[in-house]
Amino acid sequence: MTEIAEYSRQFVLKTRPVDLPGDETFAIETTPIVMPGPGQVLVKILIAALSPWQNQRLKDFKNYTKPFEIGEVIDCDVLGQVVAGEADGLVPGQLVTGRLGWREYALATPDQLLRVTDEFPDTMWLTALSSPGLTAYCALDMFGRPMPGQTMVVTSAAGSVGGYAVQLGKLAGMRVVGLSGNADKCTLVTERLGADVCVNHAEPGYEERLAAACPDGVHLFFDTTGGTVADAVFDTLAKYAKVLVVGRTVSNNSDRPDLDPVNMRQLWAREASIQGFSRYSYPERWGFARERMMDLCRQGLIQTMDHLVDGFEKTPGALRDMLTGRCTGKVLVRYGAATPIEKDNPA
Ligand SMILES: NC(=O)c1ccc[n+]([C@@H]2O[C@H](COP(=O)([O-])OP(=O)(O)OC[C@H]3O[C@@H](n4cnc5c(N)ncnc54)[C@H](OP(=O)(O)O)[C@@H]3O)[C@@H](O)[C@H]2O)c1
Repeated sequence: MTEIAEYSRQFVLKTRPVDLPGDETFAIETTPIVMPGPGQVLVKILIAALSPWQNQRLKDFKNYTKPFEIGEVIDCDVLGQVVAGEADGLVPGQLVTGRLGWREYALATPDQLLRVTDEFPDTMWLTALSSPGLTAYCALDMFGRPMPGQTMVVTSAAGSVGGYAVQLGKLAGMRVVGLSGNADKCTLVTERLGADVCVNHAEPGYEERLAAACPDGVHLFFDTTGGTVADAVFDTLAKYAKVLVVGRTVSNNSDRPDLDPVNMRQLWAREASIQGFSRYSYPERWGFARERMMDLCRQGLIQTMDHLVDGFEKTPGALRDMLTGRCTGKVLVRYGAATPIEKDNPA
């Protein structure tokens, strides 16, 4: 029998940050745990996945999604375990993923949950087989159209989404040049992820080193950050280049998101095209992308990267560390351990 706590803690939005969130941004609320009703299960959250979009939703500016309300629980993808209730074949013991937020327990309905197996390590269900890996896969497959021999540049190449874009570009036969914020990350991007070159954008003169790393120009630019670093890539675009805008971390972190620079002159001069991408628009592609990523992982062709922090209270600090470039791969926070499944439990 799984032990269930009496109370669950959750982080809610207390005040909106101007740029980066601080301790004053969040409050911890404690609520009694409610047992599931018909059609519901109670999920104990084991790992929460942090992402820059959580920061952008703390603020009140126009975006692809609505801001968190003051007092609202901070949302995020999680890995959890069903600990009570039965619904649609879900029984206690089953591991699941879903968007259940920064909290220790959550009630959920089966349509909110994806059942996961122990074929892969638990963290992989929040990395290669979840938003980071599937975003990189779908954006490249649907719009990037990687061509062997051509050059792709990836910003935040040691980052959660960027790290998979680097690897998928290499698997497609491209020359891949990463941009990253320190020397250790650059070593990881070339040695572990297989990029041909990684340019440290924190060092002066990175623009020249980037241009030198792309002698034929940049045919495909996979951009998750925006900002001046991304703008420097526009100076190196090849004729008919494609710019895939997957994220805007820099302007989302800023107090003036409206000042996001984009070198339109070079876009015009190179007859390049620009394509925005949001995974939320293509839910029907998700299952296929996950199957493909599972295949690549089974074959050992994909390296997963995560930065795992222990403890519910550490969640806001881990978000800040991610937003200030201190982490590599997906930032995950462990809230608890799974309960071993009993023998007579079919899950
Ligand atoms: N379109 C979609 O469907 C979709 C899906 C998932 C995520 N996203 C977006 O993609 C972006 C990346 O998400 P992620 O989870 O993979 O995060 P991430 O890249 O792992 O984390 C943030 C990284 O951004 C870089 N960064 C932060 N501030 C920067 C600055 N001022 N200048 C340059 N780089 C900076 C840092 O890397 P370096 O220091 O190494 O540069 C930092 O480590 C986010 O904007 C997210 O919202 C979009």
